[in-house]
Amino acid sequence: MKKADLIIRNANQLLTIKSECPKTGIEMQNLGIIQNGAVAILGEEIAGVDTTKEITENFISENIIDASGKVVMPGFVDPHTHPIFVKTRENEFEMRILGRTYKEISQSGGGIRSSINDVRKASKEELVELGLKRITKMLEMGTTTIEAKSGYGLSTASEIKMLEAISELNKISEMDIIPTFLGAHEFPEEYKDNQEEYIKILIDEMLPEVKKRNLAKYCDIFCEKHVFNVEQSRRILSEAKKLGFKIRMHADELEPIGGAELAAEIGAVTADHLVAVSDKGIKKMKEAGVIPILLPATTFSLGLKKYAPARKMIDAGLPIVLATDFNPGSSHCDSMQTVISLACTEMGLLPSGAITASTLNAAYSLELGNKIGSIQTGKQADILIMDMPSYKYLPYHLGSNCVDMVIKKGRVVFNNSQR
Ligand code: NIG
Ligand code: FE
Repeated sequence: MKKADLIIRNANQLLTIKSECPKTGIEMQNLGIIQNGAVAILGEEIAGVDTTKEITENFISENIIDASGKVVMPGFVDPHTHPIFVKTRENEFEMRILGRTYKEISQSGGGIRSSINDVRKASKEELVELGLKRITKMLEMGTTTIEAKSGYGLSTASEIKMLEAISELNKISEMDIIPTFLGAHEFPEEYKDNQEEYIKILIDEMLPEVKKRNLAKYCDIFCEKHVFNVEQSRRILSEAKKLGFKIRMHADELEPIGGAELAAEIGAVTADHLVAVSDKGIKKMKEAGVIPILLPATTFSLGLKKYAPARKMIDAGLPIVLATDFNPGSSHCDSMQTVISLACTEMGLLPSGAITASTLNAAYSLELGNKIGSIQTGKQADILIMDMPSYKYLPYHLGSNCVDMVIKKGRVVFNNSQR
């Protein structure tokens, strides 16, 4: 008999999503389900995964959680968020309903630029306090790892302040947070007519400083016709690569300008959004091994009817990933459960495929697939107990938090029934 610190047993369905690589094609629908499943946890790790009968015969523990009638699954991984900002921008949401577009709003003083002043003025402590509230809510909705971007400071000092706030949040919250530098999110007001000067600051000052302080694993860019064009993006990302940053990209969100093709050329880890991606871009991404991250809550929140061509990318053999894009402008959505619902109804993913895209594949998109994203022996014990009879219920119950319990690194960090 082996000793465990915690055993979760009698799960109606235990979704292991077991795999040694990201899932593609039909394999995305294979959730590795164990009926009447159980998990044994020792310290921060998973020590055993099997039927309740097998686990009960092999492990003993003083801590037992009964998951009868429920689904047990890996924590959600949200690999594209912008959670550090000061004010929300609900006025823009209303303006879009009245017919203005995201691009029009951002070119007339709203958009990313309107979030800059407050972030520049805020102290690091304020950013941490605001960020902690948001991240705690995400955790309670089952997200156990996020990627978080800077990009609302757009000066060396304020971008560093944002990244330091992200680093502090990683230390003080239960959430694992992977930091991304997004100094190329927009041209700040003072450089809007002198783009070359801002690019020079990005390359000569910001990137080396962020690297020196080891504040970000990834460098991202908003590559779009009205923001950083392909040529500017290529220059900035090449410099970032030389310094040792891995690359993520906001690519082909609004117009097909060759963002996905650039992601492939530069060897980016991910290309995100891709609503307007070209067939050539899909082909190049497949050849280069770029992972597509799709953000249906953004399309929904922008009130657009055309979603990223998810089925086409699945048919091309790409390992689809989902994320919230949580931010104050284009997607004020912090729930991976909602994203999964939208991915099913608006992009034609099956519930099983959408769950794989939000766990295992999302973990691989952060290069953490060997540690999180599935329930396998030796992996970190980031586990959800969901108040639902089967995984198919997850996208069906739209807009509700169906999480019963969140277990992070082997510890219960949220218990809905004890609220
Ligand atoms: O991913 N596209 C760029 N960045 C965000 C929007 C941020 C904002 O509007 O504040 C996005 O949609
Ligand atoms: Fe984004």
